[in-house]
Amino acid sequence: MKAVKAVVFDLYGTLYDVHSVAGRCGERFPGRGLEISLLWRQKQLEYTWLRTLMGQYISFEQATEQALDYVAAHLKLSLPPEAHAELCNEYLRLRPYPEADAALSALRARGLPLAILSNGSVFSIHSVVEHSRLAHQFDHLISVEAVKMFKPHTSVYELAERTLGFARDEILFVSSNSWDASGARHFGYQVCWVNRFGNTFDRLGQTPHYTVASLDELPERVSAAAVAS
Ligand code: 2OP
Repeated sequence: MKAVKAVVFDLYGTLYDVHSVAGRCGERFPGRGLEISLLWRQKQLEYTWLRTLMGQYISFEQATEQALDYVAAHLKLSLPPEAHAELCNEYLRLRPYPEADAALSALRARGLPLAILSNGSVFSIHSVVEHSRLAHQFDHLISVEAVKMFKPHTSVYELAERTLGFARDEILFVSSNSWDASGARHFGYQVCWVNRFGNTFDRLGQTPHYTVASLDELPERVSAAAVAS
């Protein structure tokens, strides 16, 4: 494999913990925070995929709002508009995984440009990254908004290749979402799957080049890959 010239990260679930919203959900619905958060995330993802298939793009915030509408209806939760808005707002203030900052610094110290390529809108990516004070770590924050389709559509992966100006097989794409890692591998990136929770990789005809249990393993892996190439 070629030496890695840049690293591109997925945002939701990879650098940031989407289930950090469970705390706020649990304050409003005691004992049900994680149940709500898990179904919410699942529906949010489904809505991005379905919207892409329908050819009817909406922003990630809208998909998140509509997914929460579904969850409230399905679980029969009373969610007045201000509570709905408060919970959706949590998606703009997600917590980064504890090792993210140090891992990003270590990669930067190796001279690698870093980017985020996310299904989030420009607004939501900037909100999350700025709220967590990690904006300085990234050279590019790339949103699907430019192509109005969501990952894993190949047009989205193309965006990062174009923005970074390196060949796809010189870019390491890092994601915890195995459907996203599969899409990236299919496109032609070098791929690292972050498997924090012992998950099973999706059966989409692709496998990651590397698997790590957390982001702090990444700098070593990148160096080893460069030496081996
Ligand atoms: C992303 O950040 C949704 O995790 C996905 O693009």
